[in-house]
Amino acid sequence: MRVIGVLVSGEGTNLQALLEAGLPVVAVASNKPDAGALARARAAGVATASFALEDFPDREARDAAMAAWLADRGVGLVVLAGFMHLLTTAFLERFQDRIVNVHPSLLPAFPGAHAVEDQLAAGVAESGATIHLVDEGVDSGAILRQERVPVVAGDTPETLHERIKRVEHRLLPRVVRDLCAR
Ligand code: GRF
Repeated sequence: MRVIGVLVSGEGTNLQALLEAGLPVVAVASNKPDAGALARARAAGVATASFALEDFPDREARDAAMAAWLADRGVGLVVLAGFMHLLTTAFLERFQDRIVNVHPSLLPAFPGAHAVEDQLAAGVAESGATIHLVDEGVDSGAILRQERVPVVAGDTPETLHERIKRVEHRLLPRVVRDLCAR
């Protein structure tokens, strides 16, 4: 059974879903020292660390330190749960085909950091949640699981994102549980 390292930048509700599902999360790392997700990890007794870009000479050095920290904890599966940076090649190769991301759209439609706002601006009738493998591109790796989420009249980015997250919190632990067992 692989153990899990989670990379976060924000609130950490997807991390919380993994913890509540009883999955073996052993390490949580963030590029933001004040991310709410780190507090959730600490409350669950999980090891945490911050790898802010400004503390390293470049992105490669930051990712190398982060990969080493995860590897030291025996991490065999990396979950990006609201991690807002792209990862460098060496990191991707170290955990090849063992990095998954959760994204708030029906990929390949609406990749990127502003997917929820972009979907509302485009006037789509439905959105979704996607769990996919991570490659060098922006939200472009192989899709593992996807579910549709309706857009309703009067939706704001907040109300739509909240509806999508409820689906993410159900899908992500299922996919991660399968991957841990492989
Ligand atoms: C999620 O909507 C995820 O799809 C996106 O970032 C958000 C993270 O939310 N990549 P949280 O930090 O898990 O609450």
